[in-house]
Amino acid sequence: KRILFVTSEAHPLIKTGGLADVSSSLPKALADLGQDIRIIIPNYQAIKKTENVQHRCTLRINNCDVNILETRLPESKVIVWLIDCPQFFGYPGNPYHDEYGNAWANSADRFSLFCRITVEVAMNRAYLDWKPEIVHCNDWQSGLVPALLTLEYNRPATIFTIHNMAYQGIFPYSTYNALNLPRQLWNPNALEYYGNMSFLKGGIACSDRVTTVSPTYAKEIQSSEFGYGLEGLLTHRKEFLSGILNGTDKDWNPEFDSNIVQRYSHKTLHHKQTNKAALQERLSLPLEPSIPIFGLISRLVEQKGIDLLLECLPELLSMPVQFVLLGSGNKSFEQRLYNFAEAYPEKMSITIGYDEQLAHWIEAGSDIFLMPSRFEPCGLNQMYSQRYGTLPIVRKTGGLADTVVDALPHTIDNKTATGITFNESTPSSLLEAIKRALILYRVPEIWTQLQTNAMKKDFSWNSSAKQYLSLYDHL
Ligand code: ADP
Ligand code: GLC
Repeated sequence: KRILFVTSEAHPLIKTGGLADVSSSLPKALADLGQDIRIIIPNYQAIKKTENVQHRCTLRINNCDVNILETRLPESKVIVWLIDCPQFFGYPGNPYHDEYGNAWANSADRFSLFCRITVEVAMNRAYLDWKPEIVHCNDWQSGLVPALLTLEYNRPATIFTIHNMAYQGIFPYSTYNALNLPRQLWNPNALEYYGNMSFLKGGIACSDRVTTVSPTYAKEIQSSEFGYGLEGLLTHRKEFLSGILNGTDKDWNPEFDSNIVQRYSHKTLHHKQTNKAALQERLSLPLEPSIPIFGLISRLVEQKGIDLLLECLPELLSMPVQFVLLGSGNKSFEQRLYNFAEAYPEKMSITIGYDEQLAHWIEAGSDIFLMPSRFEPCGLNQMYSQRYGTLPIVRKTGGLADTVVDALPHTIDNKTATGITFNESTPSSLLEAIKRALILYRVPEIWTQLQTNAMKKDFSWNSSAKQYLSLYDHL
């Protein structure tokens, strides 16, 4: 099949979160299954181009000259088309924020231009001599594509994957007008959302199929708690809605990970200690092999339950533990975390910023991984953690509920347990889970068994990619 994969980020070209990981590993997995898949993405100034880049064509749209550049995903055969329009994308910052962390004031213009160009490519009007059979869009930044394609004759089939309902691309009617979008799309069955325009709604309402990144999240978003006002539409379309779990790439496998100090597998689990010592040394924590290290790597936003954790920190840090955190986001969370790290330099280390290598070190060197998310469409770090034998503590929601098996007497006995789960979004519920983890940690036979269960689990992309393929086949 010929598939055009539309995304606003793709690792290692540009990454702010899990979408980037999925947007490179899923296309690679589909290419490995023999599909002709190409990625289309804006050419932000921050994009890291390591391969050759070729100019393919220039289109004029909405009074803008736009170049389409061609490159490949590093170390793969997947073609990437970069939508180059310096007027919109030629500035420092990330896809969503400027270099000072403020959301781009012209996000609607940026991504509507991106969507319009994508439609030209999808309809083979961009002189690339290639017409996809399937256009696979991801998150709100690509939401206008399925909507605009409904107006085309002989269009490719569309699939829209929701990675996060919390980000919707909502703009006032005046923006809709200024964008010169077709009148026909201004209605509640397309882009109109309570008097505003919603990019996300365009994707959900106008695609042939809608998917989310875990089966549980696909159910959750049909309720008012997680649906952000779109639960009615999602329930109405539930026959066309399904959840396919994300997978993990081989970059996140301790057996092959070139970032870490010593590679290991479940058969050489003792080598994990070397990574633990290296992590303690790097972060200036006491070299204590038997003290459990809690790790956390995350965008520091409310979604991730950082506030719950902050409430637990005084008690957590009163116990014999170490805690290492890597992340960035909400400034007040950053400050409060800093204050704790300053007060407990022997126990806690915090790194604010983005650091790919340190992320691998934390997965390899920690004993326990914290992911107390309020909601989690899929979540990747809990899967990475299981692979690294770093048992995750997660709230039972979305993809976390689908991928972590709670350590209870019967799951310990039947060797299916791979972590600790808790139900309520409350500090006391999280704290209780932490205490359960510490009790298990003190029983080495059980802990090693849990690590082995977790490390043996198959989180590879292969099976998820096959599920996408079977969806494409039915379109
Ligand atoms: P989300 O997409 O909601 O942020 P995921 O768990 O799906 O959550 O994916 C997060 C990805 O981003 C993981 O690959 C994680 O390692 C990475 N990540 C998040 N914050 C940082 C950071 N500060 N430095 C390095 N990697 C990070
Ligand atoms: C989103 C979600 C996360 C998911 C990722 C990739 O950012 O927050 O749960 O793993 O997308 O699908």
